[in-house]
Amino acid sequence: MFTQRATRSLTKRVLGSDLVNLLTGPHGVDRYTELLAPTWTRGEGRAKVVDVRRITPRSVTLVLAPNDAFRDTGRSLRPGQYVNLSVEIDGRRHTRCYSPANAEGAAHLELTIGHHDGGLVSTFLCDHARRGMVVGLSGVGGDFVLPAQRPRRILFVSGGSGITPVMAMLRTLVDQGHSGEIAFVHYARNPAEACYRHELAEMAGVRVLHGYTRSVGGELNGRFGPEHLAAAMPSPDAVFVCGPATLVAAVREHCENVYSESFVAPTLTLPAEPSGGRVTFADSDIEVVDDGRPLLEQAESAGLTPDSGCRMGICHTCTRRKTYGVVRNLTTGAVSTEPDEDVQICVSVPVGDVDIAL
Ligand code: FES
Repeated sequence: MFTQRATRSLTKRVLGSDLVNLLTGPHGVDRYTELLAPTWTRGEGRAKVVDVRRITPRSVTLVLAPNDAFRDTGRSLRPGQYVNLSVEIDGRRHTRCYSPANAEGAAHLELTIGHHDGGLVSTFLCDHARRGMVVGLSGVGGDFVLPAQRPRRILFVSGGSGITPVMAMLRTLVDQGHSGEIAFVHYARNPAEACYRHELAEMAGVRVLHGYTRSVGGELNGRFGPEHLAAAMPSPDAVFVCGPATLVAAVREHCENVYSESFVAPTLTLPAEPSGGRVTFADSDIEVVDDGRPLLEQAESAGLTPDSGCRMGICHTCTRRKTYGVVRNLTTGAVSTEPDEDVQICVSVPVGDVDIAL
C-alpha cells in the first residue's frame, strides 16, 4: 500500500519525466502544475511565504519554504551568500538579491528586507508581503562566507540591513558550538530599527555592542574606529563586515583579515560621449542608436523587459549573449571583444556596433 509520501514522490517523478514535459509542450509541465499549486514547479525555483514578521518599523522578515526545484540549488547555500528573489509588481517581474539570515541547514530561508526609500521591491515587500504569497527564488552567489577553518576570535560588524549575512554566520557558529570568542557590532539609526536586537541580547557567549547613528542609547558613539574596535574585540583573528561602503572602508582601515560585502550600488561612470553605434536586440528585431547608457536601460527604453535583479553587476540575472561587437563593463573595466560572449547588460555599454541576443 502506498503511503502519502510515496504517492507524492511518485507523482513528482512522473511530472518530472521528459515524456510528460514533451507532451505538455511548448510550455512544459510547470505552466500546468503551477495552476494547481504555485510552488509545484519542476524547473523553476519558487518559495511560499510561510510567515511574515514586522519587528522593526522599516523592515519585514519573510520565512520562506522553497520548492524542490530551489532546494536542489539551495543545498549549496552557505551562510553569508545571497539568493535572487523575484516578485511580480503590476504585471512585471522584478528580481533582487537578498542574503538569508538563517543558520546553515535550516529547513526554511529567512530574509529580513530593509525598506529603502524609492526601492521598488523592498517597499512592495515591506507593505504587501503576506503569508501564502509565492515568490521566485533562483541562484546562490557571493563569496562572503566563513572559511572552512574557522578563525578563533571573530568580530562581526554590520550596518542597517547588512546584518542579515552576518546574522547567518553568527547563528551558524552558535549552532555549531564555536569554542572561540565572538563579538558583534551593529549600527542602526535607533534602537527601534536595530534588527535582531532582542535575539542578540539573549545570545550567550557573544559580546554585542550597538551604535545608533540618529539617537543615543547605544554602547558605542559615533562611527567605527579604533575605540569601537578596542571596546568590541582588540586584534581579532578575522573580521566580517557587511553594510554601507563607508563602514566597510572604516573597518578595512583599522583591521586586518577583513572579509566584506557591500550591496551599495557602485557609481557607474558613463562614457563621456556615446559611441553612436548600432545596437541590435536581435531576438526582438529592434535596433537603436547607442546613447551611452548601459544596454539594459537602452533595451528598456526600447520597450523590452529583460530580466534584471541588482542592476549593479552582482547577481548575473541580466546576463545576455553578445553575438557581435565590443562592450565595456563599467564596474570592472573589462572589455568584451569576442563574438558569443555572455555580458551583464546592466553594467555594460557598447563600444560601437553591438548585437545582443534579447
Ligand atoms: S541585474 Fe544583477 S548583474 Fe545585472
